[in-house]
Amino acid sequence: MTASREFVVVGARPLRGRVRIPGDKGISHRALIAAALADGVSTITHLGPGDDVVRTRDAFVALGVDVKVEADALTVTGRGIDAMKAPASDIDCGNSGTTMRMLAGLLVGRPFPSVLTGDASLSQRPMQRVIAPLRALGAGIDGSGDPSRDGSVAPLSIRGESLVGTRVELEVASGQVKTALVLAGLQASGTTEIVEPAASRDHTERLFTALGAPIERIDDRTTRVSVGTLRPFTIDVPGDPSSAAFFVVAATVTPGSELLIEDVLLNPGRLAFVDVLRAMGADISVVSHGEHLGEPVGSIGVRAAGLHATSFECSEPIIDEVPALAVAAAFANGSTEITNAGELRVKESNRIATIEQELAKFGVVVDAAADGLVVHGGHPHAATCTSHGDHRIAMATAVLANALAGESRIQEWESVAVSYPEFAQDLDRLAAAK
Ligand code: S3P
Repeated sequence: MTASREFVVVGARPLRGRVRIPGDKGISHRALIAAALADGVSTITHLGPGDDVVRTRDAFVALGVDVKVEADALTVTGRGIDAMKAPASDIDCGNSGTTMRMLAGLLVGRPFPSVLTGDASLSQRPMQRVIAPLRALGAGIDGSGDPSRDGSVAPLSIRGESLVGTRVELEVASGQVKTALVLAGLQASGTTEIVEPAASRDHTERLFTALGAPIERIDDRTTRVSVGTLRPFTIDVPGDPSSAAFFVVAATVTPGSELLIEDVLLNPGRLAFVDVLRAMGADISVVSHGEHLGEPVGSIGVRAAGLHATSFECSEPIIDEVPALAVAAAFANGSTEITNAGELRVKESNRIATIEQELAKFGVVVDAAADGLVVHGGHPHAATCTSHGDHRIAMATAVLANALAGESRIQEWESVAVSYPEFAQDLDRLAAAK
């Protein structure tokens, strides 16, 4: 990562106009994976620009896949999974848990050894949740650390083994882990059935089904997959609703704002944050414009509104939006309780702790619990804070600062490069529009 940078926000700036945000991170990873698996030329436009997606792209280059980067499109010439070659060195997944967990599922079925490494934050995140179910298919995969205490962490060492499909019950509802199992299942003999404790995001099922892969959704917790391939394709990646959430909250809490966010992914599993904000009194309209490769796409309009507190239970589909929702709660009348959110502790930072600490600097009282948060609405003031190297904490605090009179500073701003490198420029542009 580059040297620490600060984002200085002189706030109380209404946001106006239109914005097209970067391509969805989850769809971008999956499009790269699908294109690398397919036999033929695939074209991807509006790929997410963040470093996490670059890690997945570069991993496939290391595996011998032909990737051409042009000004506004990426061309991937896949030759099927069997054409992938052993990487010359360890694959560095950087800060990207999605890259590490998904690639683990692909590499366990390849007939060569490989090692997946990550940065300091990723090297502390739990990997047993993906190691254990992959082993149930016969995978040769080991983490470092003490697995008996769920201490398995990166680096992950993988020996290529032949895989045998089976029924696997996941301990954690996770779109990343489910995708790893799908990628292993596409290479395993027989059928692999993946059962989750609760529904997780379903982008892999939607995209792979649209591309002709033998994958079947039995219900919202059960996915079945057997050995098979995907066809090459052209995709224009829709905007990331998790990035849009920051602008939706920013416009809601800053009086005088009116924004239109165009070309956003409208997968219902990713819009739970809209329901929470509406329950708090937000003025949000969602308009679908049709489907692209199995995913609904459209626009989100938002106007400033006064908010009142709510309570909600967290689940995997809304977990990434909690930092933004905590900022909305800081402006609400009353105390907002967020429960069942223990997973926040193992994200890019311990988000229960970092939300509590950083919002406190703005005068917002947050009570952290083992698996949740209570945010007491009030009258925040400008402050200097840090992202803790976590992109979503950086953007959440910038949204908070934007609504407040006076100058705020967000340190370690460079972490936004993980998902939205141009966030500051887009925020400043919308704030300058009349
Ligand atoms: C993702 C799933 C979620 C999410 C992450 C992306 C995905 O993680 O937090 O940003 O693309 O499937 P988990 O699957 O670990 O919950």
